[in-house]
Amino acid sequence: MATRVGDEVSVLELKCTHMGCNVAFGEISGRGITCPCCGSQYDLITGEVLRGPAQKLLRKYKVTIIGDEVQIDD
Ligand code: FES
Repeated sequence: MATRVGDEVSVLELKCTHMGCNVAFGEISGRGITCPCCGSQYDLITGEVLRGPAQKLLRKYKVTIIGDEVQIDD
């Protein structure tokens, strides 16, 4: 899932670390996205858990910005 907050761009794993739901279907509020299944909230840029029940952050991929494109490096 690619996200942009202001000038910051991030690509995060879609699979919630709690029970594997697709976080991309979650509600976005400010810098957070809420998993639609049990309500864990993650930071859209860092992938950190803002609210449980999830305990592990979402994987964050390394990216390079080239013009208008986001290239995933790993
Ligand atoms: S599967 Fe995402 S919070 Fe439970």
